[in-house]
Amino acid sequence: MLLGVNIDHVATLREARYSLLPQSANAEPSPLEAAYDAMEGGADSITIHVRGDRRHMQDRDAYEIADKCPLPLNLEMGVTTEMLELALKVRPEFVCLVPETREEVTTEGGLDVAGRLDEVTACVARLQQEEIKVSLFIDPDLPQIEAASKTGAEMVELHTGCFANAQGDMIESEVSRLIEASKAAHAAGIQVNAGHGINYTNVYRLFTVPHLAELNIGHTIVARAMRVGFREAVVEMREAVNGYPD
Ligand code: PXP
Repeated sequence: MLLGVNIDHVATLREARYSLLPQSANAEPSPLEAAYDAMEGGADSITIHVRGDRRHMQDRDAYEIADKCPLPLNLEMGVTTEMLELALKVRPEFVCLVPETREEVTTEGGLDVAGRLDEVTACVARLQQEEIKVSLFIDPDLPQIEAASKTGAEMVELHTGCFANAQGDMIESEVSRLIEASKAAHAAGIQVNAGHGINYTNVYRLFTVPHLAELNIGHTIVARAMRVGFREAVVEMREAVNGYPD
């Protein structure tokens, strides 16, 4: 199982103090240094989300990490002309298309691929022309998987937010939903990734979901890094993820 480490919240902390002083030599912490630490801790890729409102990652972070960090870069972005232009300049290995609304605290719900089929298909095709592999962040629902398959995207990332927020019996029913979705995507020849809200405690409950190729994990690693340092926080998650059955 591959581990993609999302370092957005390293930039969140920097922006909390330095958003109005981007050139300051004091601007810290550095997302690039976090990317290096993640690499040393065993991450397989680095994920960043450049949002339309630039609330955490800035364009310069994307260029710098793509240029300097040897790990593959997974750029999360909304389906917009502005972001497509940025991706074509940054040239990450992967793009994950996500929904985006200004008011949300974090990505809420998956991309409505079924409802935006033409727009998403065109965006996927443009990225693939430049040999960028594309993932679609979708809810674990069969109509979205069918639609994802029509776009030609190589991957889907199943949204695990409902699983992560579930309590009691609902946890198993959300796991079942992920199992069915993963089987359907795999059967359609699509690589299956998952992410959102996964932490050191709940990651084990995803081990019954078959065909998972990669987990994308951010918030919990950044939070854990406050106690043990970024590299060690990634080492701990790497060890947890290694328990996924082959
Ligand atoms: N995958 C996607 C598509 C996301 O938008 C996010 C949140 O930015 C994550 C994974 C990581 O979620 P978390 O920070 O809850 O681990």
